[in-house]
Amino acid sequence: MPLLPQHIAVIMDGNGRWAAQRGSVRSIGHRAGAKAVQVAIEFCLEQHIGSLTLFAFSSENWNRPPEEVSTLMKLFLRMLDTEIEELHRRGVRIRFIGQRSDFAPEIREKMAWAEALSAGNSTLNLNIAGSYGGRWDIVNACRALLATAPAAEDITEAALGRFMALADQPEPDLLIRTGGDCRISNFLLWQMAYTEFWFTPTLWPDITREVLLQAVSDFAGRERRFGLTSAQVHGEQA
Ligand code: FPP
Repeated sequence: MPLLPQHIAVIMDGNGRWAAQRGSVRSIGHRAGAKAVQVAIEFCLEQHIGSLTLFAFSSENWNRPPEEVSTLMKLFLRMLDTEIEELHRRGVRIRFIGQRSDFAPEIREKMAWAEALSAGNSTLNLNIAGSYGGRWDIVNACRALLATAPAAEDITEAALGRFMALADQPEPDLLIRTGGDCRISNFLLWQMAYTEFWFTPTLWPDITREVLLQAVSDFAGRERRFGLTSAQVHGEQA
């Protein structure tokens, strides 16, 4: 039985280049990117993967041209209006991570509605990172921990980890980044300490089940040592 990741995180990059290749404007690429999200969700449902975390909008993406930010917000709103009920019907639990107060009230209300509607589901945890940054997450967790007025010795990795986004889910086993760049762009910095990375030149709107299968089968062949030696991992004598 090949080793399946329990949690896949995805940096969905390449929408703009996909559009440029077709002589189209960037918003067309983002629309195609939103459709491609379905491919990733279907794949995780089919493979019984427990959690899928998508980097939809970073803390830094607010600095893109206003028309592009507005397109992405409209797409976000449309997805909330059209996809959530079907996802709920299929047993998907939806969660949003990131600085929620950055979003317009209409979007915030729909995020809260989607989370409440799907809170009892367990087929797949679909986590959508919006206005999210790994550094923001760490600072946010520090503030929350400090609000409990801990003594210095109570500030431990475990204590801080409890306040990080997605603390109730296994940490990502596999990060997939499309679009050819090999970096993590301030995604789940804390949570990805031992994540396996897989990069592909495929542009996000071109993602297919086959590309995702390739990522998962590559992951299955990796030896994860978590700081141990290979012999220790295999239970051999040193
Ligand atoms: C990166 O491509 C993509 C984004 C910044 C936005 C991702 C958004 C979607 C896939 C659509 C909405 C998804 C949800 C879950 C609502 P890029 O624009 O940086 O592409 P480029 O590097 O080719 O310019």
